[in-house]
Amino acid sequence: MLEGLGILITGGASGIGRAAAELFAGYGARVAVADIDLAAAQAVVESIEAVGGSAIALAVDTSDPVQVDRMVDDAVAWLGRLDAAFNNVGVAHPLHPVEELPLAVWERTMAITATGTLLSMQAELRHMVKAGGGAIVNTASNSGTHGTPMLGGYGASKAAVINLTKTVAVEYASRGIRANAICPGVIDTPPIAALAAAGTDFSQIINAPMGRIGTAKEVAELAAWLCSGRSSYVTGQAISIDGGQSATP
Ligand SMILES: NC(=O)c1ccc[n+]([C@@H]2O[C@H](COP(=O)([O-])OP(=O)(O)OC[C@H]3O[C@@H](n4cnc5c(N)ncnc54)[C@H](O)[C@@H]3O)[C@@H](O)[C@H]2O)c1
Repeated sequence: MLEGLGILITGGASGIGRAAAELFAGYGARVAVADIDLAAAQAVVESIEAVGGSAIALAVDTSDPVQVDRMVDDAVAWLGRLDAAFNNVGVAHPLHPVEELPLAVWERTMAITATGTLLSMQAELRHMVKAGGGAIVNTASNSGTHGTPMLGGYGASKAAVINLTKTVAVEYASRGIRANAICPGVIDTPPIAALAAAGTDFSQIINAPMGRIGTAKEVAELAAWLCSGRSSYVTGQAISIDGGQSATP
């Protein structure tokens, strides 16, 4: 589905990003795996190369504009082109009621999740506009469309990601660029596994009609489709992938 495409994935060293890097490479893309944890990104590259895929690891803190510009330049230099970008970095924060949400927690969450996505899109758009097109996929969350108790900073940062995605879709559609957001429900990735190991019973918390949490590969499949030409008439959407959770009253 992604044969011959050059795709950048941020937060590609773990969880949804790692699953996407491996899946996209399996579908024939060359992938740049960018992450703040370079050693873990390198391990993903090795797992891709071990099965005949093509990937490069890049170090980046996506909240830093200089590092983000360098990441995108390096990705384009290695990929030769930037057909698609999966901006997947995001961080949750410890649980706080809104009245007690520390300013420093709010600012860090916004810097990494909202500003980081803006900076990534800005650098990617500069290349895509020159090239005459591209696809951007941003990882948001159902927390960006619904109120999630105790996660006010996280939800606000994801709402910003959704709105920026829609704005880019509208601004850049005439230049051949599509932008969509993915809104996962609860997905089995290392942060969720850590909470489960510490005693959180997600089957009691989530109200997903399918009765289970999702896998990172299931989310990666949606991202792959949105990066591919198969979704050529889809832009400006925030698509939930949550076992039906967001459809319940
Ligand atoms: N797992 C879920 O249930 C769930 C639900 C909704 C949304 N999401 C979103 O999915 C995305 C991926 O989450 P995950 O569960 O796979 O998490 P994860 O922790 O497994 O992966 C996140 C990756 O991002 C990297 N990262 C963190 N800060 C960074 C920074 N400043 N610069 C570069 N890389 C950085 C981490 O090193 C890590 O490799 C996030 O945006 C998250 O908010 C996850």
